[in-house]
Amino acid sequence: MNMNETTPNSEIASRMEQDWDARARENAEFYIATGKERWSREDFFRGGAINVENDILVDPELIALDKKFSRMRVIEIGCGAGRMTRAIASAFAAVHAVDISTEMIALARRNLSDLPNVFLHKNNGVDLSGLPSHSSDFAFSFIVFQHIPSRDVIENYIREVHRCLKPGGIFKFQVQGDMTVESAQEDTWMGVPISLEDARALAGLCGFEFLRSSGEGSQYFWLWFRKPKTEWIPKALRHAALEMLKRVRKALQKRVTLAFSVQKIRPGETYIVRIPAFPGQVVDISYEYSPANEAAPVIGVVVEWCQLDSRGEALIPVPVDHPPGRVRITGVRSRTRQGRWCRTDNTIEVAPSELVSP
Ligand SMILES: C[S@@+](CC[C@H](N)C(=O)[O-])C[C@H]1O[C@@H](n2cnc3c(N)ncnc32)[C@H](O)[C@@H]1O
Repeated sequence: MNMNETTPNSEIASRMEQDWDARARENAEFYIATGKERWSREDFFRGGAINVENDILVDPELIALDKKFSRMRVIEIGCGAGRMTRAIASAFAAVHAVDISTEMIALARRNLSDLPNVFLHKNNGVDLSGLPSHSSDFAFSFIVFQHIPSRDVIENYIREVHRCLKPGGIFKFQVQGDMTVESAQEDTWMGVPISLEDARALAGLCGFEFLRSSGEGSQYFWLWFRKPKTEWIPKALRHAALEMLKRVRKALQKRVTLAFSVQKIRPGETYIVRIPAFPGQVVDISYEYSPANEAAPVIGVVVEWCQLDSRGEALIPVPVDHPPGRVRITGVRSRTRQGRWCRTDNTIEVAPSELVSP
């Protein structure tokens, strides 16, 4: 987001917050579900449960894929007084529900206090900051975006949902699809309408696959966006590759470089290598041996299971059939279960004086 966009968004957000707080104080249940001016608690939550049944639970193949609802973590944007949150919580493992209105969140807190798997967040009306990335399996929003008078804020939410969803996660949400609706930024009741074309563009812009829609052109324009499964894999691979590169580079920096003088290497003799970083440990020492005759190839050798004594000394026996040559120690591998090269928390420095012929 650039500065030009941040300022109006924050102004719109503060207007939305004030208006929704006022609506909550006046008659929260009515502004949430305008079908009735006075709701009994029972009917209010029954209505929410019916919506959850029809708009979420009916769709397991798409929303849950191979998972079980009872193991999924959900984000609900614009939870109001918890009308739908209650039913979502009874079907899913956990719900993180956000709302811009402090008053609505206070009502939801009261209404849902018996549900330990509901986590309520008063948010800033434009993003999901505070919710961790790649952590949720499903995100949902109903009769919320239809009130947001800014396409920019809606786009920002979609981006944020993308951030918070795990790869393969679905965002199902409803927007105002009636393109004849006139929306003004001062009005926090009539939100910006979204066309099918807009919806497709928003999906692409925010990194989603456009999966499905229904109710195009109506107030109940539903959209299903999926965070691509594959997107995470190249990122993860790139990350793993970079990590490996870093490790290799570190190991290379710690390479023990040291050369015997040609005459010091004598077949059948044993030399001592002192590696103070590993006293007492069992290590593999690898070295490259090049016979004095330069034309001959370098032979890479690993001496396994050298037991370094408490001074960090180990013996390198030179086989009897070796011609005189030159040796360069190229690595010391501590015998971890993974057989890793040079532990990164150890510094291996072997000075020529530490390699001595007994
Ligand atoms: C009509 S109510 C719907 C509540 C709930 N989704 C339901 O179906 O019971 C709209 C809710 O969205 C919240 N809301 C409006 N604009 C929002 C925004 N930009 N960010 C988060 N919540 C918002 C309002 O505070 C209100 O609680």
